[in-house]
Amino acid sequence: MSIKFVETALRDGHQSLLATRLTTKEILSVLPDLDKAGYYALEVWGGATFDASLRYLNEDPWERLRQIKANTKNTKLQMLFRGQNILGYKHYPDDIVEKFVEKSLENGIDIIRIFDALNDLRNLETSAKAIKKFGGHLQIALSYTTSPVHSIDYYVNLAKEAEKMDADSLCIKDMSGILLPDVAYKLIKALKENIKIPINFHTHATSGIAPITYKKAIEAGVDIVDTALSPLSGGTSQVATEAIAILFEDSANLDFEYLEKAKNTLTKIKDKYIDNGILNPKTLTPNPKILLSQIPGGMISNLLSQLKEQGALDRYDEVLEEVPKVRKDLGYPPLVTPISQMVGTQAIMNILNKERYKLVPDEIKAYLKGHYGKPPGEIDPEFRKSIIGNAKVLKSRPADRLEPQFEKLKEKFGDIAKSDEDLLSLALFEPIAKKFLKNRDETEITEFTLHTEGDNQ
Ligand code: CO
Repeated sequence: MSIKFVETALRDGHQSLLATRLTTKEILSVLPDLDKAGYYALEVWGGATFDASLRYLNEDPWERLRQIKANTKNTKLQMLFRGQNILGYKHYPDDIVEKFVEKSLENGIDIIRIFDALNDLRNLETSAKAIKKFGGHLQIALSYTTSPVHSIDYYVNLAKEAEKMDADSLCIKDMSGILLPDVAYKLIKALKENIKIPINFHTHATSGIAPITYKKAIEAGVDIVDTALSPLSGGTSQVATEAIAILFEDSANLDFEYLEKAKNTLTKIKDKYIDNGILNPKTLTPNPKILLSQIPGGMISNLLSQLKEQGALDRYDEVLEEVPKVRKDLGYPPLVTPISQMVGTQAIMNILNKERYKLVPDEIKAYLKGHYGKPPGEIDPEFRKSIIGNAKVLKSRPADRLEPQFEKLKEKFGDIAKSDEDLLSLALFEPIAKKFLKNRDETEITEFTLHTEGDNQ
């Protein structure tokens, strides 16, 4: 048996610990050693990296991907893709999803991991078909959470459906780091008995229990694990690659000489982010309490800052008790972005207004109208009616309502977009992409002028 490793330092690692601030130059400095270390894949793109490149680094994410590809000779490149939400937070029309998949693969991605916050597989149909159509490796990820409806059978049934959708591999994605070791063992065993495709396990070190969970998942026969090289591991990131590789030395097949070189480079980079304050040491401290409350760390800090703003920090315990009640009312959605923020805000409103659901954010109303997809559990029809009245509840796939958009974008942005990739950046993050593309044009003109002046001298 050999265990395959996916290195996450260059995507989830810096997204979890460094607010996704690694620059392309920093990524390229560590890439050659990672490429020689024997990984199954390097996760380098998708998630928040696209938004952060444009918004904070003034970098073209597509150009980053091309440079990464040009500097990776031996290892597959992987990205995280939010199904119908692509790399954003809302549903996009099918033609944008399809084009984004096509261009991601064309520019260098080999494996695309897709997931939906509600595990509504209809929200993965378009991206899944496009990945197969354009020759990529389709990995379908199931968002892990706990609730009366999230049983082992629930995940096994979804995994079977994912296999029917022609997935090349399956991922159990525990974004909150709440999957317990013994449950992981049972879950992976049950999945191995029911599906044939390889299984990838992804968890976070947040609670402190993750190394044991990895050990049990591997013992249960998981094929691929996601880990982060030590400088960008621990806390809200993944478990350290080297630790798991040593634990399973006979089956890990990783070259420690190259891991060490990459670690040294990445340590210097990390030190810079400690010095400039982007790496908050608090994110490195385990938070075992999430195993009891099941409320992810990011959501807790969000609740605290919202309560602080309202001058109501003394109501924190009441809000914490309200969160699972709201989640139950909503049919037990996994607490991941953007649902975690929605549930948190509703819980605060319920407590501060003395009357539950006196005020309801538009996003919760849209959720109850089915605009995010089908909730995992049942919603009480009376409760639903009390919030949205007799408004129509969408039974079909949410993106069915959306008109094609790509040709319209071409007309609208023909002047500033020079490629389909530029158009896709605009489709996802219009204001910041516009600013970026305008800046880029101006920079190019300046460079040309300088060059001409040089010629004249
Ligand atoms: Co993650």
